[in-house]
Amino acid sequence: MRVYLDHNATTPVDPSVLDAMQPFFSDAYGNASSIHSAGQRARATVDAARTAVAHLVGAKPSEIVFTSGGTEADNLAILGLIDSARAASPRRPHLITTAIEHHAVLNAAEYAAKQGIDVTFIPVSATGVVDPADIRAALRPETLLISVMHANNELGTIQPIEEIASVAAEADVYFHTDAVQSAGKLPLNVNAMGVDLLTLSAHKIYGPKGAGALYVRSGTPIVPQMFGGHHERDRRPGTENVPAIAGFGRAAELAAQHLATADESTRIAQLRDKLEHEILAAVPGARVNDDRAHRVANTTNISFDGVAGEAFVIALDLLGISVSTGAACSSGAIEPSHVLRAIGLTDAQAESSIRFSLGRFTTAAEIDYVASTVKATVERMRSLAPAHAAPTPQR
Ligand SMILES: Cc1ncc(COP(=O)(O)O)c(C=O)c1O
Repeated sequence: MRVYLDHNATTPVDPSVLDAMQPFFSDAYGNASSIHSAGQRARATVDAARTAVAHLVGAKPSEIVFTSGGTEADNLAILGLIDSARAASPRRPHLITTAIEHHAVLNAAEYAAKQGIDVTFIPVSATGVVDPADIRAALRPETLLISVMHANNELGTIQPIEEIASVAAEADVYFHTDAVQSAGKLPLNVNAMGVDLLTLSAHKIYGPKGAGALYVRSGTPIVPQMFGGHHERDRRPGTENVPAIAGFGRAAELAAQHLATADESTRIAQLRDKLEHEILAAVPGARVNDDRAHRVANTTNISFDGVAGEAFVIALDLLGISVSTGAACSSGAIEPSHVLRAIGLTDAQAESSIRFSLGRFTTAAEIDYVASTVKATVERMRSLAPAHAAPTPQR
């Protein structure tokens, strides 16, 4: 059996998304900027996809800028806004973000800091939640932008976006949210959320890799981060990736349909809860790291005391299960995740953490298989490393 529980890394392309993309690789290869009929067909497809993506977040189609993915959209939001502020005023802008953002935001913020922008990184609670009062306390007269992700990719924890939006609105500061991990999992409405900028990525919602979008509220000044033609209303140059955008549009339509009935999220949450319950009941020293009261339906992040996460992921992979660990290999060394460190886990706890992220095609039989395989694998690994057999005390 092969079980894929790594949907926060990427999702499979939905068969109906693939159908929507296919013609644009073969017969319908026009450039959306060409005036002939082949070009017009491509343009109509891009426009329809823009409408579908806008609908998913309650925006106007003109407020959607297609990008190469979530990373580019995050960069465009942060650096594009900073560039426009710097062009308008000599004042040095200040940016507020959090310690648990995706690297697309964190590293853009760090780049901005190197360019002389002041950046404040707000800490989070032990379950990964940002306190809006901490954001308020960090405000300065020069604060330009607050960027706080909606749902965290490693924990699934959901941030109090509306409350943070109120803080931003009172201070007359722009507000960006990275909604890559909440799109398709939670209903999104840019007006209800009170955001000026919002990031989406197609491959997290059963669309293709290499497509994403930035929602830019009308009137929000964004300077393009690349130079070229007049595409995307002068906000992002480059010939549109028509097949990927067509797929993104279809994926957004499917996401909106599933959200309208909540069928998918209810089913996935039940399976996730079953998996979590079975693991916690069967494996001593297993502990959930995320905020169980405020998290997306598909994610659980669990530490297994005394188990080396990387070896665990490899052992599970050999048994047909794809999950990911709370540590990444960087320059040959295992680096504990910045998110797990930010919620106060020790390096050892972070390195023993596994993220299970379920999806649209996950079945109950798969969950049974994963629960029993996790239990047996932890027992086997602990018996091979008896020094770690006794669970360490709770944090
Ligand atoms: C929260 C978050 N933001 C941004 C990204 C980057 O998106 P993309 O892979 O489309 O560049 C990811 C992808 O893992 C993510 O989880």
